[in-house]
Amino acid sequence: MGNEARRRAYLDALGITAWQRREANAESAREGETAPAQPMATPPPQAPTSPGTQPSDPSPSSQPEVAGLDWSALTEQVAHCQRCRLHETRTQGVFGVGNPEADWLFIGEAPGAEEDRRGEPFVGRAGQLLDAMLHAAGQSRDSVYIANIIKSRPPKNRDPKPEEIAACLPYLRRQIQLIQPRLVMLVGRVSAQTLLDSTAPLGRLRGQVHRLPGFGIPAVVTYHPAYLLRSPLEKRKVWADLRLARKTLEEGM
Ligand code: URA
Repeated sequence: MGNEARRRAYLDALGITAWQRREANAESAREGETAPAQPMATPPPQAPTSPGTQPSDPSPSSQPEVAGLDWSALTEQVAHCQRCRLHETRTQGVFGVGNPEADWLFIGEAPGAEEDRRGEPFVGRAGQLLDAMLHAAGQSRDSVYIANIIKSRPPKNRDPKPEEIAACLPYLRRQIQLIQPRLVMLVGRVSAQTLLDSTAPLGRLRGQVHRLPGFGIPAVVTYHPAYLLRSPLEKRKVWADLRLARKTLEEGM
């Protein structure tokens, strides 16, 4: 299967082939013409949504035992971490997966049951949809890096508690420091609100290019694939978000 055919197949998987102009001559249908009807202007990069309220720990990884760790030491620390009570119920810490020198970093919320079992983020049903999103954007699990806000599964997949996020965030911050991505994709509300230090609803955070507080890296917000499984009509917005992200990367913003 050629690249374009594969991309079409994954757009199919996302349920967004209806965006193609069916009446158009197939030979003249360029990539940009298969986009959703809604305008996709890229606003200029913006300051964090709540300018006066920087995160309490805006420095990349201020905890002394995390600052300066290399990749393997960091992996080791996460594997043995007992900073919050989630270590009592998790099977294992879920560090992250992908290319440690990736341009794109995808950040979700927390491992679920399947991720906890396999030790890899986004491998359950939501993960399959994330894979489709990646492929639709011309990426793969190997070309990007995928991590979560917290590394241990909350029981019954409840939202992470603020103290669990606070305990775990230094690991993610160090990962960002080491990866040095050119763009961060904030997947879902918990990821977006945590890393943008905002309480704004996700719908208000998407559609613009943020700067990650403490890093300055461009960040684009999108819906969580678990939400898309419940609300498939929102998939077209995810495609718009991915296009915004790719445009941002291409323009080197
Ligand atoms: N949802 C997430 O946010 N992360 C995972 O790894 C799996 C599901």
